[in-house]
Amino acid sequence: MALYDTIGGTYAQTRRSDPRIAAKLLEILTSRQVSTIADIGAGTGSYALVLAEHGYRVLAVEPSATMRSQAIAHPAIQWIDADAENLPLPDRSADAAIIMLAFHHFQNYRQALQEVHRVTGGRQIVLFTYDPEMIFSFWLTQYFPSFVSDVQSTFLSISELMSEIESITGTGMNTIPFALPHDLSDSFAAVGWARPELYLESSVRSGISSFAKLTDEELEQGLSSLREDLQTGEWDQKYGYLRQQTQHDVGYRFVHTTA
Ligand SMILES: C[S@@+](CC[C@H](N)C(=O)[O-])C[C@H]1O[C@@H](n2cnc3c(N)ncnc32)[C@H](O)[C@@H]1O
Repeated sequence: MALYDTIGGTYAQTRRSDPRIAAKLLEILTSRQVSTIADIGAGTGSYALVLAEHGYRVLAVEPSATMRSQAIAHPAIQWIDADAENLPLPDRSADAAIIMLAFHHFQNYRQALQEVHRVTGGRQIVLFTYDPEMIFSFWLTQYFPSFVSDVQSTFLSISELMSEIESITGTGMNTIPFALPHDLSDSFAAVGWARPELYLESSVRSGISSFAKLTDEELEQGLSSLREDLQTGEWDQKYGYLRQQTQHDVGYRFVHTTA
């Protein structure tokens, strides 16, 4: 059973597309001649929907039925039940591919990249991902220390990711750091960088795969210590300056091919 069939039951409630992320994605895509976009690991289709609403045709590839069942239907979105590693799509059937916070879930990322390269025929590939070297600077790891090893074993470093893509596509790569807004509407792992109270909400945690991997013991311990630090003012003493910031570079990156 796909991981997201187990953990994705309420995903669409908290993982809504963020307009700032969507705007940057559209900006990267509109710099080229693109009409059909493959969204690989499309989840519940929140970003596929934005693309469809902007006039693109979207091939939304998603292996989890639980995730697909939460999608909002749109005539320009074709849903495909498949893994990135075996795309049931003809060569050059998409002008571009996007991989939004999904690459780190692929079982065989090289095979997935080869497939994405085949389907896009060497045209544009855009990823939204996380730089694992940034995990040490995120205060959340103080409460949930195993996030460090989880992130390090799950995400490729940005330089590794770029050279893997380069070696398969033969194209140049560009990285764009994306500072997270304080009021991010897509509640992924760093959503609470300036709003620590969000992590105390089980509905928010259930849309974040890193929380699903914690032992019950680490989860309970981390939550009670965060709750206590918020009550005593300890968190605000250490990190309260973050509440004044409108955006912050937590480590998220757009990585895209340039050829
Ligand atoms: C964190 S979610 C991101 C979903 C969506 N892109 C978004 O931004 O909301 C990761 C998604 O990747 C999917 N996924 C996992 N393994 C995959 C694979 N091998 N091929 C394609 N998608 C996969 C999961 O089922 C899940 O829906």
